Amino acid sequence: MRLLRSASSAACALLLGASSVQALEVDLTSAESIKQAASTLAYGMVKYYTGNNTGDVPGNLPAPYYWWEAGAMFGALIDYWYYTGDTTYNEITTQAMLHQVGPNVDYMPPNQSRTLGNDDQAFWGMAALSAAEAKFPNPPEDEPQWLELAMAVFNTQAPRWDNQTCGGGLKWQIFTFNNGYNYKNTISNGCFFNMAARLARYTGNTTYSDWAERMWDWTATIGLMSPQYYFYDGTDDTINCTEVNHIQWSYNAGVYLYGAAVMWNITQEEKWRVRTQGILDGIEPIFFHPEVENVMFEVACEPNGKCNVDQKSFKAYLSRWMAASTKVAPWCHDWVMNKLRISATAAARICTGGPDGKQCGLKWYTGEFDGNLGVGEQMSVLEVVQSNLIDLVEGPVTNTTGGISKGDYTAGSQSDSTPLTFDTITTGDKVGAGFLTAIVLLGIVGGAWWMVA
Ligand SMILES: *[C@@H]1O[C@H](CO)[C@@H](O)[C@H](O)[C@H]1NC(C)=O
Ligand SMILES: *[C@@H]1O[C@H](CO)[C@@H](O)[C@H](O)[C@H]1NC(C)=O
Ligand SMILES: *[C@@H]1O[C@H](CO)[C@@H](O)[C@H](O)[C@H]1NC(C)=O
Ligand SMILES: *[C@@H]1O[C@H](CO)[C@@H](O)[C@H](O)[C@H]1NC(C)=O
Ligand SMILES: *[C@@H]1O[C@H](CO)[C@@H](O)[C@H](O)[C@H]1NC(C)=O
Ligand SMILES: *[C@@H]1O[C@H](CO)[C@@H](O)[C@H](O)[C@H]1NC(C)=O
Ligand SMILES: *[C@@H]1O[C@H](CO)[C@@H](O)[C@H](O)[C@H]1NC(C)=O
Repeated sequence: MRLLRSASSAACALLLGASSVQALEVDLTSAESIKQAASTLAYGMVKYYTGNNTGDVPGNLPAPYYWWEAGAMFGALIDYWYYTGDTTYNEITTQAMLHQVGPNVDYMPPNQSRTLGNDDQAFWGMAALSAAEAKFPNPPEDEPQWLELAMAVFNTQAPRWDNQTCGGGLKWQIFTFNNGYNYKNTISNGCFFNMAARLARYTGNTTYSDWAERMWDWTATIGLMSPQYYFYDGTDDTINCTEVNHIQWSYNAGVYLYGAAVMWNITQEEKWRVRTQGILDGIEPIFFHPEVENVMFEVACEPNGKCNVDQKSFKAYLSRWMAASTKVAPWCHDWVMNKLRISATAAARICTGGPDGKQCGLKWYTGEFDGNLGVGEQMSVLEVVQSNLIDLVEGPVTNTTGGISKGDYTAGSQSDSTPLTFDTITTGDKVGAGFLTAIVLLGIVGGAWWMVA
């Protein structure tokens, strides 16, 4: 990357105002250029993080970011190291990932319970799993290990499978006092599916792949996934999941995509190839702009300007999981990489915001900085840009193909779901990775699925 100064003379700089106008330039044919761009983007993202400051809490992002997004951010930093080899952020990553494990070592710190749904917990678990798959440096031996942490998250979630209603599935929330306890949302179930498939691959243990099969089937049966592989937001278990909220988010498609691709890798069954390809065919018309070069976009909230803080990060995960899929299902490589190249080029172009003129906006398809900036915006561009290095890195390892992380089948099993006591939870207090409270409370919307009401 070169930082292009569009104003290189003092006179021009004056004309353009005090802050210099710079753009993130990236040449996708050059690994060096991509690494440099990723470095600038990662730096811009970590600037928001205060958890390693004296007196602050490792692993927490300041408001307005919820706890889950910090887990997602450390996942992005693990990816960053995997793609670039740059160890700059390894120390703060390990520190944060270990600090937030909670007393039962399963990513359920009691003081985050108000925003702790299954999806929130899983974003930390998936970061730990990525660390195991990428051979991210192991924690000290007397600390919990990456694979063990991912297993702990899985071990706490599997018993939450709830066939009291809807024939199964996970509820969004773990604790009854949180809004959304009656909602079975796609991201919680998708994260479980994703982790089950990956744990099956890493360990070779079919208990995990059986769970992945069960979760996939349930998602389809209950209609959270349509026959054309569209993934909807969630469904209400007080009416036995007979109606579905049809809003589509890119991270739901992404989380199932990588899980399905991993299942294909393990089984090489035609059924998983068809499913993986089906998800790719499904994301094409929904999350790639029909009029602007097929650039990735969040259809439900970017055009109408209503993305909330959580939603601004979702393209990071679709990018992350699309790229990862090319490693385990090589036949999708060319299609996926073409999409990621186009989106990375468009995304880098809009990183001209903030005081330093290098912060990224939200809407890649607009061709210019659009005034939004934050962790999610920055993380999304980081993931889509660095994913263009995927051909240069090793695929995810397993226990028998070079893995170095230790697991523990009993991890997390000593925990129960009873939290310590808290302050009273007020309505609207709770919004975790699943967001959406307003819509749940208003009832299930019909009609315009592509818009946030
Ligand atoms: C926190 O980590 C960042 C990134 O590594 C670093 O730039 C910063 O100096 C660190 N802050 C402290 C107080 O250690
Ligand atoms: C929450 O718990 C962690 C330990 O899990 C602790 O370090 C931190 O100070 C507590 N408070 C906040 C605001 O995170
Ligand atoms: C309910 O789910 C559990 C898995 O947690 C399973 O063992 C049991 O057979 C299920 N019951 C029914 C009726 O499906
Ligand atoms: C609830 O939904 C499940 C799954 O669709 C179905 O098997 C079950 O019979 C339903 N229960 C009732 C009481 O309708
Ligand atoms: C496979 O995983 C399950 C679930 O964690 C565990 O109970 C079982 O002991 C494992 N099987 C083997 C052979 O390690
Ligand atoms: C499964 O994934 C691994 C890791 O990327 C890869 O080396 C292997 O070729 C994949 N298997 C198949 C059948 O493509
Ligand atoms: C990997 O497999 C070997 C042999 O089956 C086993 O001894 C070891 O405990 C496994 N490691 C993990 C992390 O599960």
